[in-house]
Amino acid sequence: MKQLNVGLIGGGFMGKAHSLAYAAMPMFFWPAPAIPVRHTIAEASDELAAEAALRFGFQRSTSDWRSVVEDPAIDVVDIATPNHLHAEIAIAAAQAGKHIISEKPLARTGAEAKEMYDAVVAAGVVNMVAFNYRRTPAVALAKKFIDEGAIGRILSFRGTYLQDWSASPDSPLSWRFQKAIAGSGALGDIATHVIDIARYLVGEFDSVNAMMSTWIPERPLQSSGADALGTVRGGDGPRGAVDVDDQVMTMIRFAGGAIGSIEATRNGYGRNNFITFEVHGTEGSIVFNYERRDELQVCFASDGDDRRGFRTIYTGPAHPYGKDLWPIPALGIGYGETKIIEAHDFFTAIAEGTSVSPNFGDGYQTALIDDAIVESAETDAWVDVPGID
Ligand SMILES: NC(=O)c1ccc[n+]([C@@H]2O[C@H](COP(=O)([O-])OP(=O)(O)OC[C@H]3O[C@@H](n4cnc5c(N)ncnc54)[C@H](O)[C@@H]3O)[C@@H](O)[C@H]2O)c1
Repeated sequence: MKQLNVGLIGGGFMGKAHSLAYAAMPMFFWPAPAIPVRHTIAEASDELAAEAALRFGFQRSTSDWRSVVEDPAIDVVDIATPNHLHAEIAIAAAQAGKHIISEKPLARTGAEAKEMYDAVVAAGVVNMVAFNYRRTPAVALAKKFIDEGAIGRILSFRGTYLQDWSASPDSPLSWRFQKAIAGSGALGDIATHVIDIARYLVGEFDSVNAMMSTWIPERPLQSSGADALGTVRGGDGPRGAVDVDDQVMTMIRFAGGAIGSIEATRNGYGRNNFITFEVHGTEGSIVFNYERRDELQVCFASDGDDRRGFRTIYTGPAHPYGKDLWPIPALGIGYGETKIIEAHDFFTAIAEGTSVSPNFGDGYQTALIDDAIVESAETDAWVDVPGID
């Protein structure tokens, strides 16, 4: 069986998730499209890299990501760093002929995403952007129902991504609150996942109208590079300015005629990973809540008036990806499973020489939507979303 050497750059939260996926993918998907070999991991210092290699099962470690990209032994470059490094690493990796998976948001702006997209197109390498939530089996089942016409023509999409890990003013000024590193706040960090789901389920955006707010203008400075996502609180030390949004709300006109809304906050006490959507069609409705991610709720107009209502489907072997996961519905789908499925689909595309979605083109289109949302919030006007060129 073919083995492909992975060079993983960034050993934080996503470094953990991706390493787990590479180890576990062949355990679930067998025969595997290829065996991912955890070859080299790069971190910000030699000490962090050595620790990450030991912890995540990599053969080698380095503090120089360029040496990974340039290593002829590496087949796949995995970008799991903060957002400001995605473009530089991806463009270098494409020029070195590596297949690339990059974490989301693909880039800080549409212009930056375009450079990355152009680089992978020119190099002809397989590329993927890690919008893993669309690979939750219940979300893929919603897509199947919509594609089959089970709920008719789509009228509306209401999506949320609500969290509370930054609601405390003592949650530190990590890279996620710095525009130069992150590009944007709740918009690029979390709303972007729901934008990807909306494109996946409903289609392209025609125009947006948005509002954005920053609720906590200063946070305690943080010394380490990794973001502890609110699990560590700052003390009485110096504070620095937040220059990204804490909350975004947007109304959407879809190109296909549907209308919708997406909102995201990291300051919504009581919400943890509250990715939800509700899709209404002319023949029914579909509801999803990631905090109950084994379940998809559906209501069909064809049910008689006396029994119409939402029913709950627990995803299992009969549903997308299900036969390779666990043998009984409701055993429990987790975040790890979405990353294992993502790794499977990425390595399948490499092994078969095909493309995979969402790819850098999707990441670029999503970045253009993010740009339009920012422009709309600044100008208080509807803004058209361009297509990628
Ligand atoms: N798909 C998802 O569900 C999801 C979830 C969280 C984060 N993300 C994305 O993943 C990326 C990483 O986020 P995270 O939560 O893992 O962040 P993190 O802060 O936990 O980890 C980032 C790591 O990158 C390392 N790093 C910084 N500079 C480096 C360099 N020059 N070379 C090598 N390593 C370097 C840091 O030391 C840190 O360990 C971001 O783009 C983020 O938006 C995606």
